Amino acid sequence: MRFVVTAGPTREYIDPVRFLSNPSTGKMGFAIAREAARRGHDVVLVAGPVSLKTPSGVRRVDVSSAREMLAAVESALADAKPSDVLVASAAVADWRPAGCAKSKLKKRKMDGVLRLVRNPDILRTVKGVRKVGFAAETGDAIPEAARKCRAKGAEMIVANDVAEKGCGFGTDTNRVAFVRPDGSVERLPLMAKSAVARRIVRAVERGAKI
Ligand code: PMT
Repeated sequence: MRFVVTAGPTREYIDPVRFLSNPSTGKMGFAIAREAARRGHDVVLVAGPVSLKTPSGVRRVDVSSAREMLAAVESALADAKPSDVLVASAAVADWRPAGCAKSKLKKRKMDGVLRLVRNPDILRTVKGVRKVGFAAETGDAIPEAARKCRAKGAEMIVANDVAEKGCGFGTDTNRVAFVRPDGSVERLPLMAKSAVARRIVRAVERGAKI
């Protein structure tokens, strides 16, 4: 099976020395890529700026912005079969500055002037392959995960409450629930991200039945 996994944050530059981003370290996505490769799948890992080592047997493409991440995912899936799978674990910036200045902006010129435009939604844009997404919420992630599952055409959304201790950004553990389009919810206990990754890859392997 071919897995294309997105991981890490994106950076949306305001000027050459400043950007909008988030605290994603890539640990969750890299664990998924590592586990899929370990189980013999063909894995492309599209990574935002992170400082993790590439898992063995994984083809890695480094990107910075959401638009670069979308282009890399589309390129990795250019000759995709419907059985290929996109696992979108990256924390993609939902907005970017309307423009990026060529030189460092002066502070006094910036008060109240940053205009944001919407970034493309990678998970929603990609079509013709199986899709597994995440939902990162501060609080109960299940209702939003169910909505995202339907809106983005995913066969499963991995919901995590990133405000919960030991979960979400930068941690080595996570507590997730698998939310499916039929409304079913499978809650997993707090476990290592490597164990969460194993459960995700196995769920994907079970295919149409997940
Ligand atoms: O990297 P770590 O430090 O290990 O942290 C892991 C994590 C918290 C980043 C991970 O577990 C997680 O929750 N990833 C998804 C973060 C996110 O952006 O969630 P969201 O609810 O905003 O987005 C929903 C889904 O759409 C996600 O699959 C996301 O990758 C995708 N998306 C969102 C916006 C966008 N422009 N394009 C997308 O593809």
